[in-house]
Amino acid sequence: MPVQVQFSEADFEALKAVEGRIAVLLPPEGAIPALARRLDRQMRGALKRAMTREAWQKLKPGEALDLAFPAGLAAEAVQLVKLPKRASVTEARKAGAAIGRALGPEGVTVLAAGQAKVVEVAFGLTLRGYRFDRYQSERKTPGPVTIMADKPDAATGAFLPLAAVADAVAFTRDLVSEPANVLTTTEFADRLAQMKDIGLSVEILDEPALEKLGMRALLAVGQGSESPARVVVMQWQGGEKDSAPLALIGKGVVFDTGGISIKPAQGMEEMTMDMGGAGVVAGVMRALALRKARANVVGVVGLVENMPDGRAQRPGDIVRSMKGDTIEVINTDAEGRLVLADILWYAQERFKPAGMIDLATLTGAMVVALGHDNAGVFANDEKLCNALLKAAAREGEGAWRMPLGESYDKLIKSNLADMKNTGGRWAGAITAAQFLKRFVKDETPWCHIDIAGVTLPPAETDLAPKGASGWGVMTLNRLVAEMMES
Ligand code: BES
Ligand code: MN
Ligand code: ZN
Repeated sequence: MPVQVQFSEADFEALKAVEGRIAVLLPPEGAIPALARRLDRQMRGALKRAMTREAWQKLKPGEALDLAFPAGLAAEAVQLVKLPKRASVTEARKAGAAIGRALGPEGVTVLAAGQAKVVEVAFGLTLRGYRFDRYQSERKTPGPVTIMADKPDAATGAFLPLAAVADAVAFTRDLVSEPANVLTTTEFADRLAQMKDIGLSVEILDEPALEKLGMRALLAVGQGSESPARVVVMQWQGGEKDSAPLALIGKGVVFDTGGISIKPAQGMEEMTMDMGGAGVVAGVMRALALRKARANVVGVVGLVENMPDGRAQRPGDIVRSMKGDTIEVINTDAEGRLVLADILWYAQERFKPAGMIDLATLTGAMVVALGHDNAGVFANDEKLCNALLKAAAREGEGAWRMPLGESYDKLIKSNLADMKNTGGRWAGAITAAQFLKRFVKDETPWCHIDIAGVTLPPAETDLAPKGASGWGVMTLNRLVAEMMES
């Protein structure tokens, strides 16, 4: 459950009675809003006194400090949050995040009078207030959030589309955080099917259907697992009836042991996140449905588990993709591209999309290149790529363009088949992208986003606690809004 936010009128008596936390948005210096002045008097001047101290003065916009057990109030703490009157969107989200970071089961009442960007504050609060505590006996689930704002009704309306995105980001983070014994391929498909309730059309293709379509590359990856392969197709039809959709394609490897080319034990538990691309696609579809986007978008995810087994594929196997091209499997750990090859092709054959974007935790090489702060973006189309990079910048999600180029093709040339599935040590993220490009038609504008480094960062970020980030949901939601709805 994402954090629930309510906007209300400023009410001083209610504020005095709050037993949880209070947060007050305050300008760096100068006059403070009338209600904050009353609060200060009630606290015997402690609020203004704090604002004269270095601890306050050296805070950057969006940062905060705590006054514990304030005199004159029932609250357990008053958090002073620095936010200029004319804050940027980023600053407002960061201020909200500071409140969300401190949020506990006791809840919080936010005094946001005089602040124009109050819905962005609420958005940051909701994103950073997210907790994945399903498996902790002592749960830390955040309590209720009330934001006292100048125009609560207007704020409630303006927050709706942002609340939809925050809900979708939480949905993606939940999927990424779930362990692989819970989030099997079939459980994943079931959770996506539940989105029929919010107006998405959802189809689940089972193994016989995938065989019939000829998706041998995808099926080969899953054939060593007890958990059967699934492809899930989600459609949102909010645009003109016959206009070609944007296609979003996601790698959904629910667990990646490496298969017969097995990974080392160290860190293998993180491979529960190898379905992150599919998680983002599902989250974007959720956001579009919840905010009733005026656009046609289709999401296709390939769900498989990569396990070593008597029936698993071997190094040296040659598989035929749905497109018809044959692939020599040099390393069974380069499985993501085999999954994507078939669903990229399927999406183009079935939907003739106006544009196509795939997301995948595809290569360790991408993490080596860009670390955890930027996803790598590969594209065959300048317009789509620039729109994507711009949307990412606006949402504060790091993204950096990487090159494609025919000269890399020699690295994936096979002696026995049309191509092989690994290109060796050098340029590993690029040879993977170059492999995918073989399954993209020249006429399809396409971006590939390698999210291996950004899906599960090693530390908390501005808008997420440590754990799954949901990277990409905000960016792609904005891309749809800016490219297709305006
Ligand atoms: N899922 C991994 C990539 C990955 C690594 C994601 C680290 C997140 C963090 C992918 O399936 C994989 O194993 N790739 C191999 C490819 C190699 C065998 C060509 C890799 O990057 O080592
Ligand atoms: Mn792998
Ligand atoms: Zn993988």
